[in-house]
Amino acid sequence: MDTPTNLQNEKLRSWVAEMVELCEPANVHWCDGTDEEYDQLTQGLVDAGTFIRLNDELRPNSYLSRSDPSDVARVEDRTFICSRTREDAGPTNNWMDPAEMETILGGLFEGSMRGRTMYVIPFSMGPLRSPIAQIGVEISDSAYVAVNMKIMTRMGSAVLDMLGADGHFVPCMHTVGAPLEPGEADVAWPCNPTEKYIVHFPEERSIWSYGSGYGGNALLGKKCLALRIASTMARDEGWLAEHMLIMGVTEPSGEKTYVAAAFPSACGKTNFAMIEPPDAFSEDGWKVTTVGDDIAWIKPGEDGKLYAINPEAGYFGVAPGTSMATNPSAMKTIGSNTIFTNVALTDEGDIWWEGMDGDPPAHAIDWKGQDWTPESDTKAAHPNARFTAPAGQNPVIDDQWDDPQGVPIKAFVFGGRRSGTMPLVYQSFNWAHGVYLAATMGSETTAAAFGEQGVVRRDPFAMLPFAGYHMGDYFNHWLAFGRVVDNPPRIFGVNWFRTDEQGRFVWPGFGENMRVLQWIVERSHGRAYGLESPLGWMPRYDDINWKGLDEFTEADFRKAMSVDRADWDKEILAHDELFIRLNDRIPSEMRAIRDLTLSALWRSPEHWEMNPDPT
Ligand code: OXD
Ligand code: MN
Repeated sequence: MDTPTNLQNEKLRSWVAEMVELCEPANVHWCDGTDEEYDQLTQGLVDAGTFIRLNDELRPNSYLSRSDPSDVARVEDRTFICSRTREDAGPTNNWMDPAEMETILGGLFEGSMRGRTMYVIPFSMGPLRSPIAQIGVEISDSAYVAVNMKIMTRMGSAVLDMLGADGHFVPCMHTVGAPLEPGEADVAWPCNPTEKYIVHFPEERSIWSYGSGYGGNALLGKKCLALRIASTMARDEGWLAEHMLIMGVTEPSGEKTYVAAAFPSACGKTNFAMIEPPDAFSEDGWKVTTVGDDIAWIKPGEDGKLYAINPEAGYFGVAPGTSMATNPSAMKTIGSNTIFTNVALTDEGDIWWEGMDGDPPAHAIDWKGQDWTPESDTKAAHPNARFTAPAGQNPVIDDQWDDPQGVPIKAFVFGGRRSGTMPLVYQSFNWAHGVYLAATMGSETTAAAFGEQGVVRRDPFAMLPFAGYHMGDYFNHWLAFGRVVDNPPRIFGVNWFRTDEQGRFVWPGFGENMRVLQWIVERSHGRAYGLESPLGWMPRYDDINWKGLDEFTEADFRKAMSVDRADWDKEILAHDELFIRLNDRIPSEMRAIRDLTLSALWRSPEHWEMNPDPT
């Protein structure tokens, strides 16, 4: 294909020419982002055996793809931050000397696209013309990437117009690392079985990804650009790039409050972003709408408020566990125009996964393409199976989700998966205390994500795998940011995952989280009561709206809110381990707040007044 007539950017033209020379593709295709192009590319993927078109009556215009069983998730141990110095990447990132890495990549990319088409994919992270948005251009030899990028970003010709002659773009270079010899037959999911590199050059603001075709490894706008590179831009330019959902909460009075919330991967972020309030709330006029489910870019506005955009345009959500019971809006979002990866295929030509409503199908084809029945001792869908669906199909999408100005954020929420220790909800005393709360957050690993189950992994700001620079500097950036904002959002901690002695969840979660959200929203306006606790402000039983939830007693609530001294002694020691790890750059506030927390815990009665059976 010829270069597009609206390509004016010489830097882009010469970069593409250079990459063509390096990678030696058979063809070059500049993506224009039209529906016709999407249809043509998806048809090509069907012809190649990469896509199966689903039953058009049950799941219109939707496809199933099965990845290579070795290529099913982000590869954190193959992800590198190649800043000029090791110290700038910090101890939580893999680092390699940029020159050394460039030599390795130069070798790997040489001839890497032989026999394949190179797709040039211009995209905007954020609404076109938003002052918060950024432009990227991904070069990839995967048509699967091109069609996913069409859903996940604003992709195509309009971005070249935006870029003009001298606009800035982040170059994102991707190959599956599987060149074809002349006459060699392709496989359905090409990738490199032995070599994978997901590499970021933060000073140069560029991304190189080799060997994987899956998710965040290959859709480079998402984790690579919108978090790792953008967090570095945000540090340098005074804004925030965060692993956060954004939601709008409308009260019965009609007042709307925007909340941004950070949770580590596999904590139900998409479910919370699309939360369906309990009937009693909806009847009273409460409404929750989604701006984004994974990433937030936040800049101070001229009025002193913080404005956030969702840089993405689609959802790359975890499929298993998604159902009408857990997330009805997600189920409606994926009703059509959706790409499914590594889910099961039913005999009717529709999709299925563990945790979907109703009985399992009597027979299906599993994610590896094998026959499956409910008696099989393997899972039908891979635990990290995904749907890629357009955000605009979400029935509870916020009416400002596409607004270039963004939405004003009133509250930040941080939460992990913790079976003990962390109460259901509490509010930090102030900004710096909130930074401590977020910096020390942790989450228990699930078997699906990390092998070993139940181990608390510290995941500061839910950004451990996504911060593009030293985590200690990251805390400092947040502290500095809070100093220049007039009326900074209030900061809250939540934990939906507390269990009792029998291992049962204490808190019902899902839609009932709305009750906690109401308190958060009211607190952020200074309207609700908060009791001073060693950890921050907490609601008492009567401060939460219990309408329609009779079975949850005050004793249950106290269990969900309890703070145990012995647990907290251990927790603080774990915070210290993190601080020691980050010792060269940890802000002094962190240790000061640790000491104040310890002191508050020490002074409180052994069973603090909110606890069950106070003594
Ligand atoms: C994601 C993740 O896919 O955080 O969003 O892993
Ligand atoms: Mn995520």
